Amino acid sequence: MLNKGFVSIVDCSKQDILHLVERTEYFEQNFNQQLLKDKICATLFFEPSTRTRLSFEIAISRLGGQIIGFSDVATSSISKGEILKDTIKIISNYADVIIMRHYLEGAARYASEVTDVPIINAGDGTNQHPSQTLLDIYSIYKTQGTLCDLTITVVGDLKYGRTVHSLLNGMSHFNPTFHFVAPEELKLPVVYKHFMDKNGIRYFDHSDFLIDIINQTDILYMTRVQRERFTDLMEYEKVKNIYILSKEMLIGSKDNLRIMHPLPRFGEITLDVDGSPKAYYFDQAKNGIFARQAIICNVLSL
Ligand code: CP
Repeated sequence: MLNKGFVSIVDCSKQDILHLVERTEYFEQNFNQQLLKDKICATLFFEPSTRTRLSFEIAISRLGGQIIGFSDVATSSISKGEILKDTIKIISNYADVIIMRHYLEGAARYASEVTDVPIINAGDGTNQHPSQTLLDIYSIYKTQGTLCDLTITVVGDLKYGRTVHSLLNGMSHFNPTFHFVAPEELKLPVVYKHFMDKNGIRYFDHSDFLIDIINQTDILYMTRVQRERFTDLMEYEKVKNIYILSKEMLIGSKDNLRIMHPLPRFGEITLDVDGSPKAYYFDQAKNGIFARQAIICNVLSL
């Protein structure tokens, strides 16, 4: 179905997403398979990563595939000035699928236009992070028993947060109500508001992180203020610790509330929250292995 790659969650229909959720569930129950035997998978990371790269690589290993690639451009010929087109053309001669994280918005789409090898977007600048979204949607489904009619509160860096942008696109099929909590400097870009208006999605903007909002919420999606996206570090200093979730803030929350975070965190969830049964971010990251198994098999029509 997705044999041109997995570049943006916007390319996926509701049926595509539900099919991927079903396959993710299958891989969680059938972890070791040999579906990628004889397949070479390239992981090209132009930006740092822990979870995304390693969970893709575990997914490939558990499926019996081979991995080539780099996690640091300094060890590749990109450091000599090689352009992205040439890197993609060359790796396409070596690999059956290319998994790529890049610091420029649109880089994965561009890569998909210069090769017939499927490209999986592992994050492109501030734009999209669709494999994160599949694992987020799977995590929501697992914890809530449904994807429909949920109240999702998203807190933190909504301007630069690519996981937020993909999540609202992906969840738009399931009648969510969003609460967006961000300071003026980090509000959701207008293009995403237009998307929600066009698709009839209810959303509310807030500048304060209020207990009343937490108490209405099914999924509380915390995010890090991303220092690396700021050109003016004074601006970062102003907003870096603006919202901090602590354990006592959960006292009146719904029983089904689950706290998610794409991670890494940088102080926005205090460590005392980790022991709460409502803290789901470590399980969420584990779900990334199964979601990425599903994505790789789908783009390879396996
Ligand atoms: N969630 C996420 O993208 O984490 P990494 O940057 O560690 O891959």
